[in-house]
Amino acid sequence: MPGIPTESPTGDRKGICAGRVAVVTGAGRGLGRAHALALAAEGADVVVNDLGVAADGAGSSAGPAQQVVEEIRGLGGRAVAHTGDITTTDGAASLVAAALDSFGRLDALVNNAGFLRDRMLVNLDEDDWDAVLRVHLKGHFLPLRHAAAHWRAEAKAGRTPQARVVNTSSGAGLLGSVGQGNYSAAKAGIIGLTLVAAAELGRYGVQLNAIAPAARTRMTEQTFAATMAAPGAGEFDAMAPENVSPLVVWLSSAASDGVTGRVFEAEAGRITVMEGWRPGPTADKGARWTPAEAGEAARRLLAAAEPPQPVYGAR
Ligand SMILES: NC(=O)c1ccc[n+]([C@@H]2O[C@H](COP(=O)([O-])OP(=O)(O)OC[C@H]3O[C@@H](n4cnc5c(N)ncnc54)[C@H](O)[C@@H]3O)[C@@H](O)[C@H]2O)c1
Repeated sequence: MPGIPTESPTGDRKGICAGRVAVVTGAGRGLGRAHALALAAEGADVVVNDLGVAADGAGSSAGPAQQVVEEIRGLGGRAVAHTGDITTTDGAASLVAAALDSFGRLDALVNNAGFLRDRMLVNLDEDDWDAVLRVHLKGHFLPLRHAAAHWRAEAKAGRTPQARVVNTSSGAGLLGSVGQGNYSAAKAGIIGLTLVAAAELGRYGVQLNAIAPAARTRMTEQTFAATMAAPGAGEFDAMAPENVSPLVVWLSSAASDGVTGRVFEAEAGRITVMEGWRPGPTADKGARWTPAEAGEAARRLLAAAEPPQPVYGAR
């Protein structure tokens, strides 16, 4: 981790996020922690949000957010902790207020907080569905909603911002993942939310993009132990969460001007633009099909179409 630039005698900070204020949700651990440190290393002042829950969302603790704030400060950066729940209106509103009260502005929101409750669909309890949809999908919507209201007010007051939002989807949301029906639905929903918000908020100076990361965190280190394993000494640690953060920092900076409504996979040394749904083979009868005709047409079109990408974990 490069050192965080200290303030120059004029108070200016160095880096592509110098002078900017960023909020990162779920920044007490894993990917969010790496993003917060990387944003601070590029000169941003950071609000480190984390509710400090267990891997399944239970409990809460102020420890993880406070620890990352101390790390950033120890490296010469500026950060404050916010330990509220981003799935509540109070938590989301106070998160935006923390940026404005502590640093006087808000430039970037990185929505990242979340947890898993994996089950095959036939065993998936309603509570596990609700909890996972809530933390990921509502947990993206509410901070976005409150940040967007602030940015719209700024734009209407003649101070159009160069605001950025980075949302966190997943390969599970893009392709589906066996045993993760709740998580896949939430992460696919985040893509829909990102597309709509990019279309609605561009006029207020707000750009939104989504990432589908992969990294070694408590969320993955057991389930995908082989893929996520740390390397031998001196080798590139491909699955370190810090490898995802440079793209997040760039997307959070003013330098990403013009990039909005896009989805990137980011892991190890690789960045991939994900190309989404678009019309494939099509047929138009110009009148209503019979079911048998519709079936024949569907089979003909499917034969001409690209095969779908496999669902993760499907046999
Ligand atoms: N690790 C991967 O390979 C991977 C892959 C795809 C997507 N993701 C996504 O990346 C994001 C970060 O995951 P991670 O792997 O770093 O997991 P992690 O468990 O290490 O970190 C998630 C953090 O979110 C916090 N959190 C949970 N609920 C919260 C709430 N309501 N309010 C505030 N904070 C809350 C937790 O306390 C935790 O510190 C998640 O959205 C995850 O779905 C991760």
